[in-house]
Amino acid sequence: TVQITPTPESVAVMSGTLPLLVNKTHPVGADFVPADLEDLSTLCDPSLVRIKYSGTLAVREAANALIKMLEAAEKDGITNWQVSAAYRSYADQQSIFDASVDNYMKNNGLSRSKAISATRLTVADPGASEHHTGLAFDMTVPGTPTFSGTQQCKWLHEHCWDYGFIVRYTKEKEDITGFLAEAWHIRYVGSQHSKSMHESGLCLEEYIELANQ
Ligand code: DAL
Ligand code: ZN
Repeated sequence: TVQITPTPESVAVMSGTLPLLVNKTHPVGADFVPADLEDLSTLCDPSLVRIKYSGTLAVREAANALIKMLEAAEKDGITNWQVSAAYRSYADQQSIFDASVDNYMKNNGLSRSKAISATRLTVADPGASEHHTGLAFDMTVPGTPTFSGTQQCKWLHEHCWDYGFIVRYTKEKEDITGFLAEAWHIRYVGSQHSKSMHESGLCLEEYIELANQ
């Protein structure tokens, strides 16, 4: 008999009326693959943005919005951008999660359960990462370990909303998102939603909850 391995269907992640919510309580399955993934190194001019790891993928619409945003930043004199991460598969996220747990156990002497709890403050469980949607980008400055405090970070937090992006994990919303603030992580939701979220000050969880009421 011939065994046919089912090809996981790819999901159009920007097709809903509301942004796709992926978080600790709304994970996607291991075989979830966003539709329209593109290689960022092919799409992006290296003089506009460095792609730290070649082969990094992102959803085309989000990547195009990123390019538009960084072209505007360049016009404002803010250059020297890097994408450190975009799409991550379930297996990619599992490796990052496991590496963090191992690191806490080996280098901080934590028990496995304490190492898992510590990891969960900054790393999503496989299936629960926004990077799995292909709509999230970790923005950095090449050779600069801390993004927070850079002129790029300041520009991004001021202007990303106009290009369809939100700063996803902030200090004020840590209790709701369940993650420590990440100045570098932006999420594409489309400009209609990003503008409303900026005006209302709601994080994605609050925004979706309000819309569903
Ligand atoms: N660092 C973010 C929360 C993630 O792992 O998706
Ligand atoms: Zn991220």
